[in-house]
Amino acid sequence: MTEQEIRKTELRWSIVAGIAVTIIIAVIVGSSLAMAIHPPSHVETIDPTTLSKSGEFAESNLGTQINPDGTVTVRVIATQFAFVPRCLPVPQGRPVTIRITSPDVIHGFIIAGTNANTMVVPGYVSEVQTVFNAAGDHLMPCHEYCGLGHSEMWSLVRVLPPSEWRNDQSGRASCEIPR
Ligand code: CUA
Repeated sequence: MTEQEIRKTELRWSIVAGIAVTIIIAVIVGSSLAMAIHPPSHVETIDPTTLSKSGEFAESNLGTQINPDGTVTVRVIATQFAFVPRCLPVPQGRPVTIRITSPDVIHGFIIAGTNANTMVVPGYVSEVQTVFNAAGDHLMPCHEYCGLGHSEMWSLVRVLPPSEWRNDQSGRASCEIPR
């Protein structure tokens, strides 16, 4: 190869590499802006040994809470082998923040059809923000192997249209899984 040919080949490959890098960056930025898919950047620690006794994840604070500004926060504990609570009512078409932590081992959860998909690590609070556009029930299974009962570990997310949305005076809402 002459020096000129080598230069041409190098130029060609640097253009290919440049296009590939541009596409990768566009996909990362595009999915983060358009679909809220991004790597976890939220690091918040919590003492896993005292979770259920007091503070944000005390038993009486778990479940769905409508905040004074109209946003919705759902607090959940992932434990061997259940999510508490089992049924999570959420309003259709409004921003929902799910906050979840574990007192024992690593769990995970995914809500099909949404961007809600994260690990739940003892000592840390995982937070996911999403909007449920369609009413209906979604399974929320554990997706990190956490022991013998892993496959039995799931909750139900019930997305309610405005006409069916109910909360009590303190802004709390609950639902039950039909038997
Ligand atoms: Cu919890 Cu698998």
